[in-house]
Amino acid sequence: MENINWSGLSFGYMKTDYNVRCYYRDGKWGELEISDSESITLHIASTCLHYGQEAFEGLKAFKGRDGKIRIFRMRENALRMQSSSRGILMAEFPVELFEEAVIEAVSRNRRFVPPYESGASLYIRPLLIGTSAQVGVNPSKEYLFIVFVTPVGPYFKTGFKPTPYLILRSYDRAAPQGTGNIKVGGNYAASLVAGEIAHQKGYSAVLYLDSKEKKYIDECGPANFFGIKNNTYITPDSNSVLPSITNRSLMTLAEEMGMKVERRPVPVSELAEFEEAGACGTAAVISPILRIDDPEENKSYVFSKDGTAGPASRRLYDRLRAIQYGDQEDRYGWVTVLQ
Ligand code: PLP
Ligand code: COI
Repeated sequence: MENINWSGLSFGYMKTDYNVRCYYRDGKWGELEISDSESITLHIASTCLHYGQEAFEGLKAFKGRDGKIRIFRMRENALRMQSSSRGILMAEFPVELFEEAVIEAVSRNRRFVPPYESGASLYIRPLLIGTSAQVGVNPSKEYLFIVFVTPVGPYFKTGFKPTPYLILRSYDRAAPQGTGNIKVGGNYAASLVAGEIAHQKGYSAVLYLDSKEKKYIDECGPANFFGIKNNTYITPDSNSVLPSITNRSLMTLAEEMGMKVERRPVPVSELAEFEEAGACGTAAVISPILRIDDPEENKSYVFSKDGTAGPASRRLYDRLRAIQYGDQEDRYGWVTVLQ
């Protein structure tokens, strides 16, 4: 513990002191329980193991210059987890209990919240699984909700340095009317093969197109996509992308900065017009895009000529981080300061 190199952290798992758990049995949620174990015991016929009844969330806590710990927009994650639950017929975890569990998990692991100067943060991972035995394809009757935390650095190794992305037209991450708009494990399993191909070829992630027509941009592996042109922040409106809380925050901040904001279908051909492009999410924050290659169409789109992020991406990144770390006023009530 004493030897953590905070500013050298990557996005990975590190054991912390405690996690928080809550069980759903007999049609109701129990009390929050604190555990110091990294393991759970599961029935071999649990629905999470066989039929993918699993949803998760990702949010972060930040230590400010003032030493205070701030959690970013946790209510939005609570609501999105409920939406994921409705999508795969799991018991919904109450919003207030979610907030309480997150605060408890962060409070009990305070010593793992990276110092302000490191630029790192505490990643908070809530998850929800179906735990009772079913062999026929049916929803579980019992559920387990867990929150664990782990200190993290940047999701993409280079942090705010632009990196290349790859369009792979022969892979989809989600069906047009499937589960792409909720945060369930199956979506990520479905993205592993394409993700691995992209990584092996030196790309940060896959840029997914809409699965039906391959005409519009969906999202970037583990993050939403945005493009900038003519002082306008443009992001895809699609049934099969995850409604990113970071993206929603950036839309607000772009407006605050006097930019126009458009959320609409974004044709692939429009990539040629963007002055800047980026991937955004809790883990990715803003990961600027250097270039997007579309080898099957023999096309390549470049967004940074000198290898640095563009001015709009930089301003949005700085403003978002300043709110998260408490350097600037939290004008929108996004931050919960830990007592
Ligand atoms: N899209 C996908 C597929 C994701 O996994 C994530 C990460 O949560 C995001 C987008 C970004 O969402 P958020 O900003 O809420 O973290
Ligand atoms: C996040 O940004 O929180 C994510 O969940 C992305 C990825 C780690 C799955």
